[in-house]
Amino acid sequence: MTAFIRLILSSKEYYKVLPYILHLKPLGIWFSGEDCIIYFPAETKEHLSGFKFDEISWEPASIPSKTLPFKPYFRVTLVSRPEKFWHKSRHVKILLGPAFGTAEHPTTARMIKIILGLKKYKSCIDFGAGTGILGLVFEKITRGRCYYVEIDPLALDNLRANLAMNRSKGCIVKLEDVKLSEVILANVYLETIINNIDILLSKKPKLLVLSGIRASDDLTLLQKRLAICSLYEDDGWLTCVALPRGIN
Ligand SMILES: C[S@@+](CC[C@H](N)C(=O)[O-])C[C@H]1O[C@@H](n2cnc3c(N)ncnc32)[C@H](O)[C@@H]1O
Repeated sequence: MTAFIRLILSSKEYYKVLPYILHLKPLGIWFSGEDCIIYFPAETKEHLSGFKFDEISWEPASIPSKTLPFKPYFRVTLVSRPEKFWHKSRHVKILLGPAFGTAEHPTTARMIKIILGLKKYKSCIDFGAGTGILGLVFEKITRGRCYYVEIDPLALDNLRANLAMNRSKGCIVKLEDVKLSEVILANVYLETIINNIDILLSKKPKLLVLSGIRASDDLTLLQKRLAICSLYEDDGWLTCVALPRGIN
């Protein structure tokens, strides 16, 4: 029977001590609200003396089934033409954490497929960056610059860690602080896009790639400001590539 200990940290603490946690080879990890619950083999206890434990358990069966087997990060492999150029594939590493944005969600996956075709652009805003996955893919593909905009403090911790881990040249900013950007990437609800459309268009983008729009949403307001060039539907979510109609 494997004994284990359970350590509960706030997500903020988790990011601060992450290198140490990885070094101790945890058994599993579970994000629950703002808490991060990490399971270690019992013998790790002596190395964790600086932390306050929630409990020590001797029943391996009580590790919740939802606990992820511990993978420190999610690796996204970028391949534009998989068969021919697999050896040229590049990777983006995304830390597991309470932020939205691994390539598993259909909106993120579709956005990434589109970004792989944007090689000629050199600047972008990743609006609603979450983990930063879209901007990181853009940076890898174009070697251009990305400005990351995010409001959720928990996602921001994850975003900072991901930018450092991927050696990003981009920076986290407020939307108002960016002057110009060739591309806008936004995987947020339609309401958020509409509420911010004036400021987004003030950056004079040549192209916008938008997702997070539900198939049942009314696109009339959006189409007043943008000309939609292509529209994709995946599991009830829409993703579109659009051009600005001009600033009113
Ligand atoms: C659906 S997630 C997308 C994450 C990632 N870009 C992706 O495509 O997987 C939307 C993100 O937008 C952020 N967000 C929502 N409204 C925002 C706003 N007004 N300004 C900045 N970020 C916002 C949320 O906190 C969330 O992290």
